Amino acid sequence: MDERAFSAGQAFLLSAKLFWTHKLFGAVKDEVRTASPQPKTLADVAKVLSPSTTYAYFEWFERHLQKMKYSGRYGLVPHADGLRRDLLARLDVNSPLVQVDPALPMPDYYTSVDVHQHPGGVWSDELAGFVYEEGARSTTPAMGVKHADLHQRFTDLIVSEGKPKRILDMGCGFGKSTRPFYRDLPEAEVTAVDLAAPCLNVAGVQASQDQARNVRFLQKNAYETGLPAGSFDLVTSTMLLHEMPPEKIEATMAEAARVLAPGGRMVHLDFHMLPDAFARFIHYGHAVRNNEVYMEPWAEMDIAALLRKQGFTDVTIAPFAEADNVPPDAWRFPWTVISATKAA
Ligand SMILES: C[S@@+](CC[C@H](N)C(=O)[O-])C[C@H]1O[C@@H](n2cnc3c(N)ncnc32)[C@H](O)[C@@H]1O
Repeated sequence: MDERAFSAGQAFLLSAKLFWTHKLFGAVKDEVRTASPQPKTLADVAKVLSPSTTYAYFEWFERHLQKMKYSGRYGLVPHADGLRRDLLARLDVNSPLVQVDPALPMPDYYTSVDVHQHPGGVWSDELAGFVYEEGARSTTPAMGVKHADLHQRFTDLIVSEGKPKRILDMGCGFGKSTRPFYRDLPEAEVTAVDLAAPCLNVAGVQASQDQARNVRFLQKNAYETGLPAGSFDLVTSTMLLHEMPPEKIEATMAEAARVLAPGGRMVHLDFHMLPDAFARFIHYGHAVRNNEVYMEPWAEMDIAALLRKQGFTDVTIAPFAEADNVPPDAWRFPWTVISATKAA
């Protein structure tokens, strides 16, 4: 693929996504804000927006810009495919920081849908980690080039309450959520698990470049890690839970409780708190348009009740600001921090 055409194609898609994030979302929000009577329920919002041409454009842009980001003439997947040999040469399959397990079963919920519209998902092609890494740069377009800040802010929040020594990052992807922990806490031992070997391999390359010695990336299932009981002070995840069906979320919380030491803390960053019917309508629409099957059931879950039932104490659920100056009328994810303590 012609590199200049690819870059121009992706730059165009990003600009269009920014137009969607600010202008189109703002226009849709205005239609709901000025509706009379004011919509109070999901059905009320649907009644206002279903006949709206602006909302039809909003939906179309969201679905198809994402599709074009990954597939088609300037898509990330065909682009990576054209560079297959070079990209594979960048991976270190013998990295001491990464342990893959080719025999690890992939759950059905995980393999049956191309989440994010990423063809083949983040797990099936050896290059999927590179593709996901590049795709993730524009997942939060309102943040522009500062897309990595949110992981740093999340780590800062956790570290401000104490410095854990043994950390488990569940669903670490290509290591973007793990990196601030192993860099900022050189005294800590950081274990990161994910189902996707291609992502773990990219995480290993980054960690080697960072000359990290205190991290290991393991191909494991978050809800049955097989890691020793009571062996972590902190269990964390970022953007994992919304990808799981409710019963697997329950199992993941139980697994976190098992691997935590008594008094250990569990802190998850995900999309959960939706303040009103408009926010819910937009988020559930996003779930459909981005192939995120479990986003809605996760947002509807009473996670606080579940955690208390599982014996966690000190359960808190709070909104999270992904940047200092989040534009008030731009589209954004409903970032939420869910934390709890394993009883001492
Ligand atoms: C949206 S990504 C987030 C990655 C990373 N935490 C970040 O913030 O960039 C979700 C990750 O969860 C992983 N995942 C989904 N189900 C999992 C499971 N049962 N066990 C381990 N990882 C899982 C996926 O492979 C994917 O890498």
